[in-house]
Amino acid sequence: MQDKTISGFSRLSKEEKLTWIAEQFFEKPQETIEELKTFWHADAEQQRIFDGFSENTVSNHFLPFGIAPNFIINGEAYAMPMVIEESSVVAAASSAAKFWSKRGGFHAKVLSTRKVGQVHFSWTGNGAALKAAMPDIEQQLREDTRHITANMEKRGGGIQDIELVDLTAEEPGYFQLRVTFETCDSMGANFINSVLEEFGMSLQQLASTHEVLRREEAALDIIMAILSNYTPECIVRTWVECPVEALDAAGQNMDAGTFAEKFAKAIRIAQIDPYRATTHNKGIFNGIDAVVLATANDFRAIEACGHAYAARDGRYRSLSSCTVKDGIFKFWMDLPLAVGTVGGLTRLHPIARMSLEMLGHPSAETLMMVIATTGLAQNFAAVRSLVTTGIQKGHMKMHLLNILNHLKATPQEQEQATAFFADKVVSFTAVRDYIKQSRNNRLVPEHFLKK
Ligand code: MEV
Repeated sequence: MQDKTISGFSRLSKEEKLTWIAEQFFEKPQETIEELKTFWHADAEQQRIFDGFSENTVSNHFLPFGIAPNFIINGEAYAMPMVIEESSVVAAASSAAKFWSKRGGFHAKVLSTRKVGQVHFSWTGNGAALKAAMPDIEQQLREDTRHITANMEKRGGGIQDIELVDLTAEEPGYFQLRVTFETCDSMGANFINSVLEEFGMSLQQLASTHEVLRREEAALDIIMAILSNYTPECIVRTWVECPVEALDAAGQNMDAGTFAEKFAKAIRIAQIDPYRATTHNKGIFNGIDAVVLATANDFRAIEACGHAYAARDGRYRSLSSCTVKDGIFKFWMDLPLAVGTVGGLTRLHPIARMSLEMLGHPSAETLMMVIATTGLAQNFAAVRSLVTTGIQKGHMKMHLLNILNHLKATPQEQEQATAFFADKVVSFTAVRDYIKQSRNNRLVPEHFLKK
């Protein structure tokens, strides 16, 4: 068997990496290299910046950057930057945005912005001694990290609380320092982790120098120091509401009252059943991730946190809620969302920079509202389709375009195929046969185009 492993890959030049990978894993190495290079940025300086984002970069991976206009949030108009590969998501967001723009728009408010970090450690001594030493420990930790926190404090942030958590009942000798932070407009991961690692070192030292702790003659061992991506106290609320009769246009062939009740039931189902909840929340994250990616925030952190929050009472549930009461339809979501508008790639990635400019250079709090609202809009559009027409109708339109692109259909063929399939089931085979036949006949026969 051919050995396809390598040591020292990271030390190769970009050209050497390309050559190695193409020769090892592709049938036509030279064509592969050339094709990968077509995705390089035309501006070498810009490409250098992209290369620097990660390691072992050989090319760029393109995703569509789309816009969902007409979002009204707290009376302000936004055009939403969205990076997503799934067809229909931008169209669905745009449609929900337009729908609600005529019904008072979206409302949003940030409920809290505290982030959490932990120093996990073991202590073989008495827990009560540790607790008694906490005021001194806290003072020392704050002093020892002054050089890291000074700037953040000037911006209004920094360390908030430091709490000792005794988890010895679950794991022998296991304690943690649970620390809360305010990180203003930055996501704060680097800041929090730097503070926590410094805390770890100071705590270790205190174990042998602090009067009470030293007397214990016990071992203190730092296991790890890291922020938590679970931020249930960094939370934003977004909602829409209107009289039920204003939902007249939402229900296709359904009257507004029936639509409202059916929609609310669909949300309740997603609160009861984890199978449905997972798909339901996935739809919410279709919107959230797209804006998070466009603004170069960390979508893995945001997803992990959102799903943990969805299971906060021990059962995985819908993130959104809906009521129909006294003639008022109300649809809302509380979502933990730790994002930044400074730091990270937010200014380095040109699309992120432009996305943030498009959003009016938002503060982190405004971005929280904007992102959560896109998630709610997406959820509204998806559930509206599900309880009315079903989603395949919209999906298939985009699916057809993807198949046509795959078959390298000309614009004229695309137009004709779109008309032909308007009332037919789209499948790869059907579209391929249609294109084959139309190419054989050169011109699509007139009767094909008639419904
Ligand atoms: C597809 O990406 C998302 C949906 O499945 C969400 C949902 O079912 O609510 C349409």
